Amino acid sequence: MEVSSRRKFLVLSLSTLGALVAGVAAYPLFRYLSPQPTGGEKGRVNIPRAQVGAGQAHFFQFRGHPAVVLQSAPGVFAAFSAICTHLGCIIRWLPENGEFLCPCHAGRFAGDGKVLGGPPPKPLQAIPVALSGDNLLVG
Ligand code: FES
Repeated sequence: MEVSSRRKFLVLSLSTLGALVAGVAAYPLFRYLSPQPTGGEKGRVNIPRAQVGAGQAHFFQFRGHPAVVLQSAPGVFAAFSAICTHLGCIIRWLPENGEFLCPCHAGRFAGDGKVLGGPPPKPLQAIPVALSGDNLLVG
C-alpha cells in the first residue's frame, strides 16, 4: 500500500470514527428534543383500576409530563398534573395526611387539587378521568 493510499484510508477511518462518536454524543440531545410519547390514542392513558387503591395515588406520564391519579374515597377518582404550580417541582402523595406535598418549598395540595398551604398560587391542573370497565381512562 502506498503512502497516499494509507493516508486516504487513515483519513476515511478517522472520519467514520468521528461521525460515529458525534452520533453517539448527539443521541441524548435528539431524544431530549423529540416529541414525547402521548401514552395512547388521542393522548389518553389507560390505567388498570386495581393499580390505584382507595386512598392511594398512582403516578404516570401524561402527554410527556408527570401526572397522578388518586382514589380519594372508594370509587372516587381524580387526576392531576403532578407539576407544582409554584415553580414546577414534582409533587408527592402523602397517604397518611391525605394530601399532596411539594418537596421543594413545602407547597401542600388537597386530594381535589386545591392549595392547602405554602407558596403555590393556584390548584393543581386537573385532568379528566373516567371509569371504563376495569380501567381508568385519563385524558
Ligand atoms: S415548587 Fe412547589 S412549592 Fe415551590
